Parts: sequence; structure tokens; C-alpha cells
Amino acid sequence: MKPELAERLRKMPPYLFAELDEMKAEKLREGVDVIDFGVGDPDLPTPQPIVEAMKKAVEKVENQKYPTYAGMLSFREAAANFYERRKGVKISPEDIIALIGSKEGIAHLPLAYVERGDVVLCPDPGYPVYPSCTILAGGEPYFMPLKAENGFLPELKAIPDDIARKAKIMFLNYPNNPTAAVAPKEFIKQAVDFCIDNGIVLAHDAAYSEVTFGVKAESFLSYGYENIIEFNSLSKTYNMTGWRIGYAAGDADVVKALLKVKTNVDSGVFQAVQEAGAFALNECDEWIDRNNRVYEERAEKLVKGLKEAGIDAEKPKATFYVWCRVPEGYTSMEFAKKLLNEAGVLVTPGVGFGEHGEYFVRFALTRDVGVIEKAVERLKGLEF
Ligand SMILES: Cc1ncc(COP(=O)(O)O)c(C=O)c1O
Repeated sequence: MKPELAERLRKMPPYLFAELDEMKAEKLREGVDVIDFGVGDPDLPTPQPIVEAMKKAVEKVENQKYPTYAGMLSFREAAANFYERRKGVKISPEDIIALIGSKEGIAHLPLAYVERGDVVLCPDPGYPVYPSCTILAGGEPYFMPLKAENGFLPELKAIPDDIARKAKIMFLNYPNNPTAAVAPKEFIKQAVDFCIDNGIVLAHDAAYSEVTFGVKAESFLSYGYENIIEFNSLSKTYNMTGWRIGYAAGDADVVKALLKVKTNVDSGVFQAVQEAGAFALNECDEWIDRNNRVYEERAEKLVKGLKEAGIDAEKPKATFYVWCRVPEGYTSMEFAKKLLNEAGVLVTPGVGFGEHGEYFVRFALTRDVGVIEKAVERLKGLEF
């Protein structure tokens, strides 16, 4: 007899892309050179100086031991300096903790605050981890629609009072995956006030804060610390997705609560990775600009090509995603299948990010310009 899976796992949303994955595998078997714009994982390498810093750090015997739970002081100081230098926010290293990637911290936060039946406010479309970690903690996701006509910002006034009363956490993410929207000051201020008034933790996911083109993505901590925790990642900033390092900063009580959960489930980030991470945060600003120039050029090429192919698209101000509306008459899944079948181009159907992602698809700019040009040529041959 097999043991029954826990309700929290049975409640996990179904994986929507199995059919698309199978179609991709079939195309590859047929020998089609599939151009994959699905993956949100930079194709560019980690800057070599960071790799060199890691090589040195890994040799040190003291780095081969268990790390401290909160992270090395040198890493937390580097994060504090980064906040002050790039975001104009002063924060004590005491109120910063290292994470095994920002996903880890995001996923553990609800365990600190959510009781069975409590609500967590999640953006829709949004990073699927927000509703999943809510369900794992026994909570109920309440989806806040992000609509194009509102600049992909949730309407806080539309959140019913009883939901606001039951809510423990609000997840927000700007610059936004998948819509590429950047949050204006007025909205950030409103969200901060809403969360303070309702006793809600404002969990801001700033994974793409440094991937910007001519705009500045503000830290939510520019508007105070009360109730706010901001999640940061080295993954997208320095092409370090595989290294698994990020950090959380903000309200001392919220950061401590997350640390208490983590102390019971993990044993911190490999110190050599923290040393290399501190080096990145202290010394590698020029690499951020270099990366952004690459993404901006790709975005321009892709958007111009999509328009020529008859697909409505706009150059993003931030992130390495192009979020575009599908032509009339298609769902996002139908359109993604058509691009794969007829052009060998793989994109992510918006519905995978929530029901309000329907009628959009996401292109990740993780392919070089030559590949983007090839994809555009193929798309121009299609009829919609
Ligand atoms: C919106 C968003 N947040 C967080 C993450 C997680 O990043 P990491 O765990 O690598 O820091 C991702 C990764 O794709 C993301 O898109």
C-alpha cells in the first residue's frame, strides 16, 4: 500500500507545460533547430573576476565548515554597501541575511507568518513560487490581477476588506516577471501604507532590480522599513543562477522571523560562495552595465522584429523579458504551439503565470542577437 500524499502537495497547481515540453522534445527528435526563448536563465557567463574570487575562497579551510545561519558579516556588509551605493538606502548589515538564492527566502517566508486559512496576496500573472509557498504553509493565495491598462500594477482598492484582514503577506515584484513593468513611486508608497494599515508583511521580490535600461528600479526600503522585507538575488545581476546566493533585507522583526525558519531547515550558504558574492557586490558594478547593454540590444532587435512580423510588442524598461499580447483569435497556449510547430520558436504561454497572463506570451532575452535575428526571420514567414 502506498502512503497518501499530503494535502498541501495535492493542492499544488498542475504543471501546465507538459504538452508543450513534449512538443519541444518531438521537434528536437525530428531534427528541428528549436530556438528556446522560454528559459529565464542568462546565457552569459558569470564574470571571470567573480569566478577567480571563488577559486581563492574555496581553498580556505575555514570556508569548508558549516557557515553561520545569518551569513558572513563581510557578505552582509557588502550587501549593505550595495544598497547604499546603488539604491540610496541605508541599512544595517544586522538587518540583512544571506539566502540560498532569493527563491529559498521567498518560499520560506510564509512559514513564519501564515496559519491555516490565512491569506497571502499574490500578483497574477506572477512568479509561481508565491502561490505555491503559500499553499505549502497552509495558506490561501488571493490573486491580485495585473492588467495592462493599470501598468501591470495591482489595484489595492479592489482588495476586499475581509481579504485584507485575513492577509498576512503581500508579494510584489518590480521590475516584474513576466510583464517587465517597473513600479512608480506613488504605487510603492500606496502599497507600503496599505500593508502597514492592515498589518501585512510586504514581501518585495527585487530579483531584477539591477536589470534596467535607462530607468532606476527603486528599493521599497526607500519608503521605510516597517513591515517590509526585500528579496535580492545575485542570479540575474551577475549571471550567477547556479551559484545559489541572494539576501533579504528590511524590517528587523521580519528578517529575524525568516531567519528563525531557516535556522530550522537549512544551514546557510557555502562560505566560499558568500565570499565570491561579497566580491561581486563590492567590485562588479561595471559588469552590471555591460550585461544590461547586451539585454537592451537584444530587446530592441526582438521587439523591432516582432513588430515587423505583425506581433504587438513593446521594448521593456527592465528585466530580460518581452511580454507581448498574442494576435486576435488565439489563447496564449494556442499561440505558443503555433510558434513552435510552424517556426520552431519556443515561448512561455502567459497563462502559466496565472489566469490574467492569458492572451500574452513571454520571450526571455537569453539568446544572442544572431539567434534572435534567425527567430525573427522565421516568425515573419507566419500568418496570424
Ligand atoms: C521573479 C523572480 N523572483 C525570484 C527568482 C529566483 O531567483 P534566485 O532564487 O535565483 O535568486 C526568480 C527566478 O527566475 C524570479 O523570476
